[in-house]
Order: sequence, then C-alpha cells, then structure tokens
Amino acid sequence: MAKTWSLMIHGGAGELDLVRKHIDAQPYLESLQIILEYGQKILRRGGTALDAVEMCASMLEDNPLFNAGRGAVLNEAGKVELDAAIMDGKSLNAGAVAGITRIANPVQLARLVLVKSKHVLLIGNGALRFAKQHGSKTVSECYFITDKRLEEYNKLHTTMRIKENQKHGTIGAVAMDKRGNLAAATSTGGLVCKSQGRVGDTPIIGAGLYADNKTCAVSTTGHGEMFMCTVLAKHIADLIAFKKLDAASAAKQGINYLKRKVNGRGGVIVIDKYGRCSARFNTRTMVHGWIERSGEIHCKIK
Ligand code: GLY
Repeated sequence: MAKTWSLMIHGGAGELDLVRKHIDAQPYLESLQIILEYGQKILRRGGTALDAVEMCASMLEDNPLFNAGRGAVLNEAGKVELDAAIMDGKSLNAGAVAGITRIANPVQLARLVLVKSKHVLLIGNGALRFAKQHGSKTVSECYFITDKRLEEYNKLHTTMRIKENQKHGTIGAVAMDKRGNLAAATSTGGLVCKSQGRVGDTPIIGAGLYADNKTCAVSTTGHGEMFMCTVLAKHIADLIAFKKLDAASAAKQGINYLKRKVNGRGGVIVIDKYGRCSARFNTRTMVHGWIERSGEIHCKIK
C-alpha cells in the first residue's frame, strides 16, 4: 500500500469580483476546509479514492454557494437540469448522468450508473427511471432553486445578455488513495439560462473529467463547449502519458492549449499518479483546495 494519499476539490472557475462586488471569500474558504476535512477522514483510514471524490462532490452539491445540486443555475425555462460524472482510474469504468431533475446528488446517481448499469451515460427521464428502480430518493424541483439563482435568472433571462464571466461554475473532486488508485468526479447545473436540453462537458468522459491510474485524475470547470471541443481532461492525461509531464506542467500546458485552440476559459485540478497536486485557471478566480501527499489543507480562491 502506498504511504500517502492526495485530494483536491474545486467549486468552479469564474470571475468572482471580490473587491468591486464586495463578495465575501470566507464562506467559500470555510466550505472548502470542511469538505476537505471529510475527504481527509476517508483517505486517512484507507478508504477509496472513488468514495472520497463522491463524498466531496456530494457535499459541494449540497452547498448552495456552488453551481451544482442545490443552488445550481437555472436554464432558459427557469428550471434546473443537472449533469454529473464519476470515473475510476483503476478500471477506467465511468458513470454519468445528464439533463436530470429531482435527484439531490447527481454524482451519487452517476456512481450508481458506474456500479449497476452496463452503460456509461444516462439522460433525462431514463436516468430518473433508473434512479427510482435502484431506490434513489427524489426531491421536489423547488429543492434546487435558491433566492440567489432566482434573482440571477429574473435579471438575465429577459435580456439574455449573459456575459462570459456569468457563465462559469461547476464543482469537482480528484483523489489518490493509499493504494495509488485515482478517481475523479464533476457535477454542475451548467450555464445560466442555457437552452433546455443543453449538455456541457461535465458528464462527458475525457472533457469534464478523466482518471487513469497510469497518468492522473482531472476535473475541469469553465465554458463547457470549449472543453468538449478540446477533450481537455484526456488531453491533460495524454500530456502526462506521452510527454512525461508532472501534474503542474500538464495542467499549465492544458490551459494554454484551451486558450490557444478555442479561446476557452476555465480551470482544471489535477493529481498525477505520484500524488502531486496542481490547479491552473485563466479566469479571475477558481475556488479550490487540496491536500498533497497526506500534508496540510490549503484553500484558495485565486
Ligand atoms: N463546465 C460546465 C458546463 O459548461 O456545463
């Protein structure tokens, strides 16, 4: 068994204007700290990377500060449609759901798809049916809608003049456990006022996340279409596989590639197979935290 483990989480890349809009960073940093402490408990006692990323992503989904689960952004019809995925770096098995409603923790449904389904991605009503067949509880659609999101929707949907800096937000977690197994999870409400039925990068394996014990675990955040067209998470894993880069160089080159190829904006968190952690983003902020090789907890917003 490897002696160390690592854990990283993010609460979305974007343009939180901390100074001009008087946004208080403290609730974000405190939330990251608490979630990392929970993940730390799992990994310290020898729990799996998959369990750690599922737990951390679920806690981020439960927290209305973040654009996933409760507190997700609303689409053009004022409803939530949620996407999530989880991937096991040992087996390369993955589970994903897209365009779902009424499931409080989409990442847990993605894990159920990974474990219980012969498919990788289930969408909409089919995903909901699958959830019910396996005993998942459903919640009212109102559960997801917070005052902040309603206000944002009411302001934006009449004009549909949505700035690039209002589009970002996702949550994610990556981990390496004591056995050296890697895992990644990502979850989102997508883009504010998105078209009904729009699916972004989050549930797309290789775009929104990737995990392979031979290279790394990656979770991405940002304008999903750009991450889909560059298959960014797999691109970063390939940089490690073929150019023998470490997590930091691969994350840096990945974000440069995103910018150069499609003028994309967003961020990534990466843990490589040695447990080295790296976060890279080309937005003003990315809420993120990490524990590298069983060390100290670090939380940052930019
Ligand atoms: N990255 C989240 C989305 O575009 O849906």
